[in-house]
Amino acid sequence: MWWEDAVVYQVYPRSFQDSDGDGVGDLPGIAARLDHVEALGVDALWLSPVYPSPLADFGYDITDHMAIDPVYGTLDDFDALVTAVHGRGLRLLMDLVPCHTSIEHPWFREHPDRYIWADGAKPPNNWIATFGGPAWTRDERSGRWYLHSFYPEQPDLDWRNPEVVAAMQDVVRFWLDRGVDGFRIDAIDRLLKDPDLRDDPPARAAPALPLLGEYATLEHLHSVNAPDIETALGGLREAAGDALLVGEVYLPTAALAPYLRHLDAAFCFELLHAPPDAKTLRAVLEAALELEAAWVLSNHDFGRLATHFGPERAAVAMLLLLTLPGVAFLYQGDEIGMSEGPGHDPPLDRAGRDRARHPMQWDGTPAGGFTTGEPWLPVVDAPARNAAAQSGDPASMLSLARAAIALRSELGGGTRFLDAADDVLAFRRGSGHVVALNLAGEPRPAPPAGDLRLVTHGGPSGAAPSELGAYQGFVARLA
Ligand code: NOJ
Repeated sequence: MWWEDAVVYQVYPRSFQDSDGDGVGDLPGIAARLDHVEALGVDALWLSPVYPSPLADFGYDITDHMAIDPVYGTLDDFDALVTAVHGRGLRLLMDLVPCHTSIEHPWFREHPDRYIWADGAKPPNNWIATFGGPAWTRDERSGRWYLHSFYPEQPDLDWRNPEVVAAMQDVVRFWLDRGVDGFRIDAIDRLLKDPDLRDDPPARAAPALPLLGEYATLEHLHSVNAPDIETALGGLREAAGDALLVGEVYLPTAALAPYLRHLDAAFCFELLHAPPDAKTLRAVLEAALELEAAWVLSNHDFGRLATHFGPERAAVAMLLLLTLPGVAFLYQGDEIGMSEGPGHDPPLDRAGRDRARHPMQWDGTPAGGFTTGEPWLPVVDAPARNAAAQSGDPASMLSLARAAIALRSELGGGTRFLDAADDVLAFRRGSGHVVALNLAGEPRPAPPAGDLRLVTHGGPSGAAPSELGAYQGFVARLA
């Protein structure tokens, strides 16, 4: 399949490229920047939601799953983008958001039976919403409680109602008919919950993946990941045929197997959240390499690669992301080493994620070439860090990302971890390539590795060194 070992580039449309000066990125803007995407060498683009939305959750609260929000353009603009993307031999993935809608979606009033309701003087159970507060809110008009796994403006759909399954299958077919090549599926572990709405028990241990404040006080035994989740997954697969389906399953690696019986890949969030130390990374990877994990180190929710790993380790982190076997997701801006920004004052996203959503920095002008208007979120440091300057600099993060992507097809199948010095993560790929990454701020012995193919700092030439410099990584090939 085309996605084996693919690199998918995550476009956050609001912040990629504005074409009409309103300060918000749009579809014609994305089309105008395809040279950059093509030169990067990725295989596909994933567009975070571009559907009509009142923006309570920045596009993940949708009022029409089969339309484009006018701020991003029109369906014609979308069709033109699909054609342009395909014309360059790239693929396009949409963000499918099947778990909930906006509370302003017409279904909420016209088809209330498509949502999950409870009667009574108080909520039917103790479930907590992901961003805090009860997962139930009273609808003023009907006096009933509706369930929302996220913000109160995002009522959960009832996937036990066959009408919901059929409606969402129509959405999948609608975009496939327009030519898209697959979907990243949002919050897919929330599709089915306990039909008896039993209480979640108190958390007995620290969560396997980080959770926000109050949400971490419960073990989400009944509110997510129901034992019959595969019924819902099967419904999505039925509509999608052989299109690529990548699941946003916010569960530990050990819980991904049922999802992977229906999806092609699922994000490995244990890797995204792992501390930047070689031992932990190896343990997380060894467990996930058994599965069809999609590698991701950053996104619009959890922040940027250069901030999580620290700017000094950004290059080795990039090399790690791009040398693992399977599908890798690269968040726009990480290829130029953007760090998280200050966000917005007052915050636009109530869950504090503005910092990871600042505009792409194309050139060294103050607005970074993102817009001719007032950007919806400030541009952080375009004069110091931008794609134009890095494009011609062989020592830049952008050059490293391009070179690593270009090398992927030569790495071969399989991965075997090598015993290496403390702080060094080293593995051998099927074709005899050795990847060695020093996460420490001091030199460390390098594993035996043959001839250099790629180095994070300094150009490749000759035999791989016997020592890795501070925060240095390389790919070399054994004879
Ligand atoms: C995951 C999305 O990536 C995030 O931005 C959103 O808030 C939640 N799912 C709810 O849709």
